[in-house]
Amino acid sequence: MSSDEFQGRSIAVLGAASGIGRATALAFARGGAKVAALDVNTDRLDGFADDLRASGAGDALTGVSDVRDSTATNAAIQAVVDSFGGLDHMTFTSGILRVGSLMDMPEAEFDDVFDVNMRGFWIAARAAVPHLQAGPERRRSITALSSAAAIRPKASSGAYAASKIALSHLVRVMSVELASTGITVNAIAPATVDTPMTQPFMGETNANHGYRLSGTSPMGRIAQPEDIAEACLFLSAQASAYITGITMPVDGGSTAAMPRS
Ligand SMILES: NC(=O)c1ccc[n+]([C@@H]2O[C@H](COP(=O)([O-])OP(=O)(O)OC[C@H]3O[C@@H](n4cnc5c(N)ncnc54)[C@H](O)[C@@H]3O)[C@@H](O)[C@H]2O)c1
Repeated sequence: MSSDEFQGRSIAVLGAASGIGRATALAFARGGAKVAALDVNTDRLDGFADDLRASGAGDALTGVSDVRDSTATNAAIQAVVDSFGGLDHMTFTSGILRVGSLMDMPEAEFDDVFDVNMRGFWIAARAAVPHLQAGPERRRSITALSSAAAIRPKASSGAYAASKIALSHLVRVMSVELASTGITVNAIAPATVDTPMTQPFMGETNANHGYRLSGTSPMGRIAQPEDIAEACLFLSAQASAYITGITMPVDGGSTAAMPRS
C-alpha cells in the first residue's frame, strides 16, 4: 500500500468508540485521512477527535450513530458528507456479543444481536452507498467486521455466530449488486481479539454461562485491535481494488485447521 493513499480521503468508522473500530479510526488517521468516528456510545468518544487529529488525520469528527435506527444512521452519515465533502470508505465494526445456550437465551437478547450485527450493517451500508456512488471515480469500499464464529461457530454463542454468517452473506450479495459501481464490499473474520468485548471472557472464570476464550492463536499470541485495523486499511486500499465479496480470516491460523491434540 502506498503511504499517502488515504491522505485527504473521507472515512466513516462505525463502532469507533472501542476496540477494533477505535484502532481502525486511528490507523486511517495516521494515513492522513479525514476520519469520522461514529458510535452509539458517545461518552467514550469524548476527546477522540483531538486524538485523531494528533495522530495525523486531515480532519476528524465524532458523532452518534445507533445502527439499529435508520433515520439516525442516515443523519450521521449525511453529517459526515456535509463536513468532509464526500465519503470514500465505510468500515462497520459496530457489534455486540451475547452469550448463553440457544435454549436459554432470552428472545430480546437474540433479537438485539441480529439488530446490531446483521441488520445494523444493512442499515449503515444503505446510508453510505448513495454517497459512495456520488463520489468521484476513485477507490471506494465498504468493510464489515464478521467473525471466525461465522466460519467455526462455538457453543454458547449461537446467536452471535448466526448473525455473523448472515452478515457475511449480506456482504457477498451486496458486493455483486454493487460490483458495477466499483464499490467493493468485504468482511474480515477475526478470531479472538483483545478488546473490551472479549476481556470479560478471558481467564479461568466459569461465570458468563461458562463461555471462555483463551485467545491464543496457532501463532502463539492473541490478536491486538491493530492487527485487524491493518486488514481494514488493506481492504480500502488500491491494492485490493479487485477483491470483493470475501470474508477474510485475520486470525493467526485459528480457523485454518484443528490444532494437534
Ligand atoms: N474482539 C473480538 O475478539 C472479535 C472477534 C471477531 C469479531 N469481532 C467483531 O469486531 C467488531 C468490533 O468488536 P470489538 O471487539 O472492537 O468490540 P467492542 O465492544 O470493543 O466495540 C464494539 C463497538 O460497537 C459499538 N456498538 C454497539 N452497539 C451499537 C449500536 N447499536 N450502534 C452503533 N454502535 C454500536 C459499541 O458501543 C462499541 O464501541 C464487532 O462487530 C465484533 O463482533 C470481534
